[in-house]
Amino acid sequence: MCGIVGVVGSTNATDILIQGLEKLEYRGYDSAGIFVANENQGQLIKSVGRIADLKAKVGDAVEGTIGIGHTRWATHGKPTEDNAHPHRSQTERFVLVHNGVIENYLQIKEEYLTGHTLKGQTDTEIAVHLIGKLVEEDGMDVLEAFKKALSIIEGSYAFALIDSENTDTIYVAKNKSPLLIGLGDGYNMICSDAIAMIRETNEYMEIHDKELVVVTKDSVEVQDYQGNVIERDSYTAELDLSDIGKGTYPFYMLKEIDEQPTVMRKLISKYTDETGRVTVDDDIVKAVQDADRLYIIAAGTSYHAGFASKNTLEALTGKPVELGIASEWGYHMPLLSQKPLFIFISQSGETADSRQVLVKANELGIPSLTVTNVPGSTLSREASYTMLLHAGPEIAVASTKAYTAQVATLAFLAKAVGEASGKAEAKAFDLVHELSIVAQSIEATLSEKDVIAEKVETLLGNTRNAFYIGRGNDYYVTMEAALKLKEISYIQTEGFAAGELKHGTISLIEDGTPVLALISGDEAVAAHTRGNVQEVVARGANALTIVEEDLAREGDDILVNKVHPFLTAISMVIPAQLIAYFASLQRGLDVDKPRNLAKSVTVE
Ligand code: M6R
Repeated sequence: MCGIVGVVGSTNATDILIQGLEKLEYRGYDSAGIFVANENQGQLIKSVGRIADLKAKVGDAVEGTIGIGHTRWATHGKPTEDNAHPHRSQTERFVLVHNGVIENYLQIKEEYLTGHTLKGQTDTEIAVHLIGKLVEEDGMDVLEAFKKALSIIEGSYAFALIDSENTDTIYVAKNKSPLLIGLGDGYNMICSDAIAMIRETNEYMEIHDKELVVVTKDSVEVQDYQGNVIERDSYTAELDLSDIGKGTYPFYMLKEIDEQPTVMRKLISKYTDETGRVTVDDDIVKAVQDADRLYIIAAGTSYHAGFASKNTLEALTGKPVELGIASEWGYHMPLLSQKPLFIFISQSGETADSRQVLVKANELGIPSLTVTNVPGSTLSREASYTMLLHAGPEIAVASTKAYTAQVATLAFLAKAVGEASGKAEAKAFDLVHELSIVAQSIEATLSEKDVIAEKVETLLGNTRNAFYIGRGNDYYVTMEAALKLKEISYIQTEGFAAGELKHGTISLIEDGTPVLALISGDEAVAAHTRGNVQEVVARGANALTIVEEDLAREGDDILVNKVHPFLTAISMVIPAQLIAYFASLQRGLDVDKPRNLAKSVTVE
């Protein structure tokens, strides 16, 4: 969701911006633009559509030494060229890019900008007009005007501003939206995500909320809004350029699905010591032991991973687990237990909805743990503790390896806490061995891609809707399976508790409705789900069964190797990920960048 990249002091600013924007594409966007300048001139180029379209327009852009670029995911105003960033002030002297939402933009327009002509409908354009007015009509200097504007603006933002009359500085500020500084030799950069700067640098500096940064080619000065200078150390990130390439894969999603056995094995190595014993930071284990209830807060796929981990956490730690949708809890926090621990699950660590709950938790003094793929992300920095997913960058919008890594990581947490608390079931659960079996099970499913692709063609063809059903852990997996299928194939899909269909939804079943049933675990439970499959088939549904091998019957469609019941949410989701992938592919859609979606959802 909206990406920012900027550079000052480099002689090939245009190339750096375009390459940076390409790396930010995965976040989701519908238009893009750059502003590049040198001492003599500046050039603004914008385009609707993909970065490739922008690149085609850039042609012989000026050889700039400073520039800012942006990918826009429309919030205020349609994805048009006028609404694309960068935006300029009334006299075109100031140029601004923005990620976030300015809540009082209409009020600012009425109060401060009478007589100004706006080209589009965005909140951002109002911000840059305000800065321009404060300098050119009210006589403030640029820094003073920027600070004044920040004191007027309410909402979330990462801003990068260039004064085209003084092209040696980028002014930056942030509140609730991500932005990082990248430090180079003779140049400095800014970016929403370190991934877009790793060609140029591996040294970064954080910006905290309500901080302003003055960036030139040789200096980076962080200030609070009162002008007090803040000393901040930089850090080196361990990102590997090869991690973010697609290699020979047609889509990142397929690469990331295929990486899952490796991720499982990596997690084993990260969460065990040299004797093979499961180890999780003592402070984290103690925080869970001290809590009387665990509250998992997350969005989308990460929320589903929370459900998929609930049974394991409860069984092994003895603590009740409650789930919260981040976008709901931000406004309505339920009655909490006496000693809660909040667990935030987030691939990106930047999801604004989750962050909103974390801010409240911190205000209330509630301890928190973030389980994330991105070290140094906002949710990681602001929570009391962090556990990393070690899944490597996930670029496809549809989350796959992060989900399975989340379930596995929380299993390590459950095992470590249970063992430390002397729980017999935790001691008996050989997670390292069981997770190795899961890795093999994933590999076995991955080797069946051709079979799965064929079944998808037959079952989902031109259908407009579908259902996933399952019981117990399989029910939790149906939620994720349905999200995966709908988000990238646009087939309207719902995940249902198999026994619940007959309480209303079964009326939607008609001739040819695809119903995909997940069947794992216990024989008795499986028999009930099979009964539900019969009910829908009797009403005309086309059923497809995905079944653990020991429960298989003649005619089952996809068999999955048996794994420990605590870990079926990992093994059973793999066929569903592949089903979604092939359904999207067969429809000729952009698997990695489904319409309207963003990878990192940084607005509430
Ligand atoms: O980065 P997060 O895990 O916090 O993101 C939460 C959701 O936006 C995300 O899981 C989304 O549902 C997936 N991209 C869907 O595949």
